[in-house]
Amino acid sequence: MYPTDRPRRLRTTPALRRLVAEHDVAPRQLVLPMFVADGLAEPRPIASMPGVVQHTLETARRAAEDATEAGVGGIMLFGVPEPAAKDADGSAGCDPSGILNRSLRQLRADLGDSTVLMADTCLDEFTDHGHCGVLDEQGRVDNDATLEHYARLAVAQASAGAHVVSPSGMMDGQVGRIRGALDDAGHADVAILAYSAKYASALYGPFREAVGSSLKGTRASYQQDPANARESLREVTLDLAEGADMVMVKPAMMYLDIIRDVAAASTVPVAAYQVSGEYSMISAAAERGWIDLDRAILESLLSIHRAGAGIILTYWAADAARMLWQ
Ligand code: PBG
Repeated sequence: MYPTDRPRRLRTTPALRRLVAEHDVAPRQLVLPMFVADGLAEPRPIASMPGVVQHTLETARRAAEDATEAGVGGIMLFGVPEPAAKDADGSAGCDPSGILNRSLRQLRADLGDSTVLMADTCLDEFTDHGHCGVLDEQGRVDNDATLEHYARLAVAQASAGAHVVSPSGMMDGQVGRIRGALDDAGHADVAILAYSAKYASALYGPFREAVGSSLKGTRASYQQDPANARESLREVTLDLAEGADMVMVKPAMMYLDIIRDVAAASTVPVAAYQVSGEYSMISAAAERGWIDLDRAILESLLSIHRAGAGIILTYWAADAARMLWQ
């Protein structure tokens, strides 16, 4: 008549619940993505990402210091050049005085090895057409020609002080080509965080505003189809064979099954990226008073952790780190 099994017993008090909790997200596991824009006098708010800004060199430095102080494990840097600096090859990315490389140099000088400094190793922020690679005569993204640009980009970022380069363009062979270039340039210690399983997702919408992207069309010819799970394992296997030091799944929340599969298959640390659209959806609902922001943040991070990601990129990294210490 009465239940003999009572799972509620272990939920009786906060102390009991704390004792039996299986998962924790630690601040050290969070990475803060930051946008640094050229030619700004003041940080510029990003309307579709309330609370996130395009930084000036100076405010990026302060935000990186604050995040590090809060215990955040790393910083992922994206450069936003002035529109006039964009060209077909995205050459501002490789330019040592381009905005991303300048900011890397400054942050490395400032923070040394107290955080892990990561750079987005991709062309889309720097190309006038907005694609992640260079185009051939038919206007298609040219895989092998793009690899040569990525090789130069990675070496420029490593020379500027990045501890980790992060190829996010989904070109075949990008990890191997970058590893070779880094080693040849004397950067054998610079690690590669490979965006291995990266889907062509609607959730990158706000990011396009964040970096002032000029993309027309889609990335469906290089990013993965959301209908597919199996090819994520193929991508991860290839990236591991090419020398990836860490692998990433992106986006996170709608791809928890993929994170789980990759975590089971990977021999290296697994990261997941809670992308701009995930941030914006939760922020927008919270702004309307429909969900509790802090609880939704922690719950979303826990879900990604439960799925198997040991490293989580999130625009809430510093806020979450402060909440988690409490
Ligand atoms: C490509 C890149 C993108 C994001 C990170 N790296 C955009 C894209 O692939 O279209 C998206 C991140 C986000 O939405 O938060 N350089």
